[in-house]
Amino acid sequence: MSRTPQASASGRAPSSGVPAVDVLVVGGGIIGLVTAWRTAQRGAAVAVVDPAPGGGAAQVAAGMLAAVTELHYGEQTLLGLNLASARRYPDFAAELTAASGLDLGYRQCGTLTVALDADDRAHLRELHALQQRSGLESQWLSGRECRRLEPMLAPGVRGGLRVDGDHQIDPRQLAAALVTACERAGVVFHRTWAERLTVAGDRAAGVVTRDGAALGADQVVLAAGSLSGRLAGVPEHVLPPVRPVKGQVLRLAMPERGGPFLSRTVRAVVRGSHVYLVPRESGELVVGATSEELGWDTTVTAGGVYELLRDAHELVPGITELPLTETRAGLRPGSPDNAPLLGPSLLPGLLLATGHHRNGVLLTPVTGDALAHALTAGELPEEARPFTPERFAAAARTEQPV
Ligand code: GLY
Repeated sequence: MSRTPQASASGRAPSSGVPAVDVLVVGGGIIGLVTAWRTAQRGAAVAVVDPAPGGGAAQVAAGMLAAVTELHYGEQTLLGLNLASARRYPDFAAELTAASGLDLGYRQCGTLTVALDADDRAHLRELHALQQRSGLESQWLSGRECRRLEPMLAPGVRGGLRVDGDHQIDPRQLAAALVTACERAGVVFHRTWAERLTVAGDRAAGVVTRDGAALGADQVVLAAGSLSGRLAGVPEHVLPPVRPVKGQVLRLAMPERGGPFLSRTVRAVVRGSHVYLVPRESGELVVGATSEELGWDTTVTAGGVYELLRDAHELVPGITELPLTETRAGLRPGSPDNAPLLGPSLLPGLLLATGHHRNGVLLTPVTGDALAHALTAGELPEEARPFTPERFAAAARTEQPV
């Protein structure tokens, strides 16, 4: 493949003075960026189209790398992909730090999930049993042991699960580092909206941007997060079934003196809702997150903030003393089975990298590797094959009335 965007591998002529590339990525969030970076590293000429690269859900996400803690019944296949990505994180973070010269806020700090009443404790015991059946490392602690580990926890904590292998990264720093690494690897950025996919014959051939430029490419990757299901020009049966799932998140500032406020991620389920507190080395404490099916709404609501603070306060009463520095809402790209769509779509030349739902930050390394392999070697690696978009097309076919 060519190393410069001046000529594509197919020699396809540019259609409005903009040279065609080997790979055009629609969407410059962390998933689009990691796809672009990894693909450019393999020698392809790559461009990204996004009005604000490095934006998107990563600007709101807490950045928990919680493959074990966030295990859910019925999601064992996704667990395999989550674990594959978690295993890659140390090398991925080191390589990206070296490539960008930027710190990622990567902390191998562990996670503690606690129970606040007898029902929570029973639920957590079941999760512990599921983790053990799945061969995962987690340790049951009494309430007293939890508080010894994290003295700011409420006195009423009844027990908890310690998972030292679940870490964290700062998604804003991750996004900034990916933008820089892409630029250094020769990725071209078109800072505008992709308005429409162009299809030539039976293949995806590029996009037309909002400012009217026609960008040509041998292959197009749709990695536009929750917007991925809305790109005009994508045939109806090819559009990915992703939907926006709103998450409201708060940021607080921990005290600079007096020892660590929290030394690891602390989380619980309070009244059926997940609440987590993610302490960064920078002193920022991220408290999240609501999960709301409200379409494209990104309003921060009094109710959302109230519920997060109320639940976080039950877990760690001392948070009410901390300055509240930011409130924000973002949109997770939800898919019907909570797992991502990776690889070739039903339209030749169009690949998907979307639908990462609650796991976009965790799945960044494995997604970049899988898409780069699919784009340059023509096939998905083994671990990504259960996540082809084809699984939803097959499901739709079997749901047809006979
Ligand atoms: N993975 C955490 C969240 O989506 O809220």
